[in-house]
Amino acid sequence: MVRYLRFAPRMWRSEVNHAVLGLVDPAPGERVVDVGAGMGPGTVLAAGAGASVTAVEPTPFMRGILQVRRLLQPGRARISVVDGAAEQLPVADQTADALWAVNAMHHWTDPERGAAEIARVLRAGGRVVLVDEDFDDPDHPEFERFRSRHGDGDGDDHGFAMVDAQRMGDLLAGAGLVDVAAGRRELAGRPVIAVTGRAAA
Ligand SMILES: C[S@@+](CC[C@H](N)C(=O)[O-])C[C@H]1O[C@@H](n2cnc3c(N)ncnc32)[C@H](O)[C@@H]1O
Repeated sequence: MVRYLRFAPRMWRSEVNHAVLGLVDPAPGERVVDVGAGMGPGTVLAAGAGASVTAVEPTPFMRGILQVRRLLQPGRARISVVDGAAEQLPVADQTADALWAVNAMHHWTDPERGAAEIARVLRAGGRVVLVDEDFDDPDHPEFERFRSRHGDGDGDDHGFAMVDAQRMGDLLAGAGLVDVAAGRRELAGRPVIAVTGRAAA
């Protein structure tokens, strides 16, 4: 809880979430899923664009904050904040037009199960964008801040052990997704790993 409060400003409004939502491009009326929604920077952007958002978040503290934030949104009727995790999405089969996760993948305890869940909930043609920032990359604007707070950046003490993008891409492809692309790139001026794909039409 203390760790999340320290990062509250960047978890409330996040440039990476803006960039990811630009890739997801939610349209009015679409049903979309924010996996590991946290304080909801992606959720509120998608609801503001007119999509109906299921914000999946396993931590009660974060869900509580997002529930309050939801009430402040003009599009609050389009936001559902629900208990769940990537490994068990509380979303019906083949109902999601799009799904994304920002800085949450590194928390997944069972990525294979997560990939299977994504394939289960996406409807034909539905798209997925999974992004984790690489705070251990010296090109990241918050590299020094993270290193001074978390030691040598070996990933063990702040929970940001980097996900193997290629493996995550292989898991999505193995679960049946198509047009899967996985690797390092820059988003919002930050080095990230990104995994994208879509359910077959
Ligand atoms: C660093 S925060 C990022 C939150 C938000 N996506 C953002 O961009 O600000 C990571 C979030 O992932 C959630 N999380 C932890 N384990 C998870 C899991 N297995 N599946 C999905 N989310 C998880 C945490 O509770 C936390 O809210």
